[in-house]
Amino acid sequence: MEPFNIAIDGPAGAGKSTIARLVAERLGFIYVDTGAMYRAVTWKVLQLNLPSEQMEQIGHTAEMMQIELKRGNAGQQVFVDGADVTNEIRLPAVTNLVSHVASIGRVRELLVHKQQQMATSKGVVMDGRDIGTHVLPDAEVKIFLTASVRERAERRFRELTQSHPELKLETLEADIARRDKLDQEREISPLVRAEDAVLLDSTSMGINEVVDSILQICRNKVGWG
Ligand code: DC
Repeated sequence: MEPFNIAIDGPAGAGKSTIARLVAERLGFIYVDTGAMYRAVTWKVLQLNLPSEQMEQIGHTAEMMQIELKRGNAGQQVFVDGADVTNEIRLPAVTNLVSHVASIGRVRELLVHKQQQMATSKGVVMDGRDIGTHVLPDAEVKIFLTASVRERAERRFRELTQSHPELKLETLEADIARRDKLDQEREISPLVRAEDAVLLDSTSMGINEVVDSILQICRNKVGWG
């Protein structure tokens, strides 16, 4: 059986990266977190103190910088111009600005091209917002992974409450709803389910259950997994 590609799209906090990473491990595939690439550009924009309305300048920055994704012990590591930014790209300052940076046409054009190159030899699990619709429209398996806003906020809350005890569930819920809106309403490649994507609502599913469902979908579609 030939290797194939899996596209996993869905809103913020649906568990895409955890699920995509586990599916990739089970199949011996390469995992590509495309959100991390938009976060890497955003990190650089903040580093350079670029005003967010300078879209052209941000596009130029994305063009000049080097983003590398490497497989580390604790998942995917992200490097910008050789520096490890794996942890820094998850900081709230980056999270707050990333939807804006991801709405810039030039930034998307560059990153989509890079993502398509990463998937040419197949055997890739790629997660994001526009993978099934735009980046890999020919992916053999497409999943649209979602969960209710409340459930996604609760998952984030459980993750962050130890390190950030001041965080409120309501704030996280509002933040997730705001990001959903920005991602769904942007002009270029908005977050939308591809017609041929299988919808998986993980609101009341455990991680292993979701992974097993995706492997079952792979078996049905391409006889693999
Ligand atoms: O999945 P994440 O939260 O790390 O994604 C960060 C941001 O990047 C999010 O606001 C949506 C955007 N994004 C995108 O526009 N297209 C992708 N393929 C992946 C992420």
